[in-house]
Amino acid sequence: MKFFIDTAEVDAIAELHALGMADGVTTNPSLIMKSGRDILEVTKEIAAMIDGPVSAEVIATEAGAMIEEGRKLAAIAPNIAVKVPLTWDGLKACKALTSEGNLVNVTLCFSVNQAILAAKAGATFVSPFIGRLDDINLDGMELIADIRTVYDNYGFETQILAASIRSVNHMAEAGRIGADVVTAPPNVIKAMVNHPLTDKGLAAFLSDWEKTGQKIL
Ligand code: E4P
Repeated sequence: MKFFIDTAEVDAIAELHALGMADGVTTNPSLIMKSGRDILEVTKEIAAMIDGPVSAEVIATEAGAMIEEGRKLAAIAPNIAVKVPLTWDGLKACKALTSEGNLVNVTLCFSVNQAILAAKAGATFVSPFIGRLDDINLDGMELIADIRTVYDNYGFETQILAASIRSVNHMAEAGRIGADVVTAPPNVIKAMVNHPLTDKGLAAFLSDWEKTGQKIL
């Protein structure tokens, strides 16, 4: 199960990278806006830190312009995955950019049919948005499961990148279903460590240890 870090905050990425928990990074225009950084500059910095794919998203909506922007983003580093939206123009850009040897992440996927088209267009990754489906009372995790089934039925090689993760339950469930990659904000990844029985057990061990009067160091 690969973890991508869903942020453009360099310090947060570095902290998780040091623990081997950053197999890649995903950014989007909103995350770049939140970071307050220049897209080319911050993407270059992240791509130099992380060995795995670093997604950077195009802004154009017409295929030709998306391809030009995608080439510019891809030129930043060999591990850039150009992110294009799941529109007809985005699929055209996906096909062109992957044919040139670039990694492409097709984003804003909300249906199995869209995911099928992304795979047919040669996407390296498809990003189904779980949280945003949950937000409108649909089942984001059901979409991940359905894409897994269809991709396995036909041996599509496009990797399912579960995105728009909002909770630790999303992480566990995406893993159970077999998403290839899960991209999550740093706070969600760090929250995965929490369990009240761990805290309770540790408190009991420390209290008993205190009674022994011993020291290890
Ligand atoms: C990542 O690739 C997506 O852009 C991101 O997960 C979207 O998350 P959000 O729905 O919480 O904005």
